[in-house]
Parts: sequence; structure tokens; C-alpha cells
Amino acid sequence: MSDVDETGPGEGLTDLHSHLVPGVDDGAPTLVDAMEGLDRMVGRGVTSVATTPHLDASLTRDPVRLRDTLDRMDEAFAELLHAASDRYPGIRLVRAHEVKLDVPDPDLSEPRLRFPGTSVVLVEWPGLQVPPGTVQVLEELRRAGLRPLIAHPERYRLLDAYPGLPAAWREAGAWLQVNHGSVIGRYGQLAERNAARLLAHGWVDVMATDFHGRPGLGLYIQRARGWFDLREAADAWRLLSVVNPARILAGESPFPVPLVRRPETLMGRLRSAFGGPA
Ligand SMILES: [Fe+2]
Repeated sequence: MSDVDETGPGEGLTDLHSHLVPGVDDGAPTLVDAMEGLDRMVGRGVTSVATTPHLDASLTRDPVRLRDTLDRMDEAFAELLHAASDRYPGIRLVRAHEVKLDVPDPDLSEPRLRFPGTSVVLVEWPGLQVPPGTVQVLEELRRAGLRPLIAHPERYRLLDAYPGLPAAWREAGAWLQVNHGSVIGRYGQLAERNAARLLAHGWVDVMATDFHGRPGLGLYIQRARGWFDLREAADAWRLLSVVNPARILAGESPFPVPLVRRPETLMGRLRSAFGGPA
């Protein structure tokens, strides 16, 4: 059964984190690769895509370079949008950025850094390390009228050494995005454990692919859906992959997500331990 059937008519997935703009970051190198990636997303039931090239927050300190970079992004994205609208007239494709917080006091007021028409900005910290002062940075962004959406917090090294940190981030007004691939071990055991813990606490607002648009890389949507099925968590799956990301793109707050617990049955635990359904 495809993900389209699983989510029901008119309920396609919305993916808020991917790297499909051709030739601008470590994502899709060419338009052909980007379109091949989009084909695969559509095949997995994705109907709405916000693609999010990497951008360093420190660039905002040099307004001329920032403008030139964003202009170049606009051009490359227009090329993708044109090709995508031709092949998939019904798809919604927009651009934001994955902003690397490489300076402690970034000015993220440039609207092209956010999901269009919203105050939401996808952020990450450099090197998958949690630097000191993350809560203060998030509070500053909130004071500036922005809503930080933290990309793949489960991938941070030592996240488990600060068990209360994700709650503090949420308390500061941030939302959390976990990668589909993390729950099925694509980024290693630590990210897998962290993702399960975040979901068990109801701290995750959206799931996304973080797909880098290259041959050989997976989307992991279907396998992540299987992971939720083993935990009888179809409601959480629908909120995380369908409802909440669409709400965020519409400028609305995500709904609370039910806690996702480990499988209840012995068979479910065994299937989970050995990788779950393919
Ligand atoms: Fe990313």
C-alpha cells in the first residue's frame, strides 16, 4: 500500500526540510537529480515541499554577500519550480533555508530565510554539537518575532547528556523537527535512541526527510511509517507528517502530538529490534 493510500484522499505529506535546489549546497547537484528526487517524493505521497538549502547565519553580517547569495538561490529555485510545475501541476513547492547558527546573535530578519509568509525559520547549530547558550539564542529569536524550528535535534552528539534541554528549547518557544531516517537508524544508534526519546515525550512537532537529492540516498518515509505502525501510533504519524507541517506552512501552530511509546507486544519489540518492516 502506498503512503498516498495510507493518508487518505486529499491528505498528502508535507515535507519541510530538503535540499533540492540544484547546485547550491550539498544537496541535488543538478536539475535532473532534483527532479528525480521530486519524482521519488511524489511517489511516496508528498504533495507539498519546502526545500531548504543550507545558509550560514554569519552571512547576514554582510548584507551585500547575503543579497547576492539569496539572488543566486532565487534563480536556481526558479529553474526547479518551473520544471516541477510542468511535471506536477498540483504540487506545492516553496523555498526556505536551513540556517546554521554559527554566530550567537544572528539578525534573521530577511524574509527569504523563512518559510514564505510565516515567521518560522529552520535552524541548526554547527557540527551537530550543542554550543553553550542555545536557549538564550532561541529566546532572542522569539523576541525578534521569529519562530525557530530546530532541524534534527536527535542528531546532536551529547544530546542525551542534557536530558532536559529539548524541553527547555520548547519552553523558549522553539518547535522540533525529527528526520524520518532517524527513527529507523539511518543516522546511527544515538540518533535513533534520541528520536525515540523525543517522540516518547511528545516533544517533536514535525517529521521531515532532510533529503539531499542524490542517487543512492533514501527518503525513509515508508520505513518510518512502519516504525510508527509497530507502535500503533498512526495518529502521531499523521500529525507529524501530514497535519502539522501543513499548518506550519500556513502560518499556524502545530497541534500537540500524542506520546509515541515502544511496541507493547513481544512480537512488536522483536520486529522493532530487527529493523521493522522494510
Ligand atoms: Fe538539512
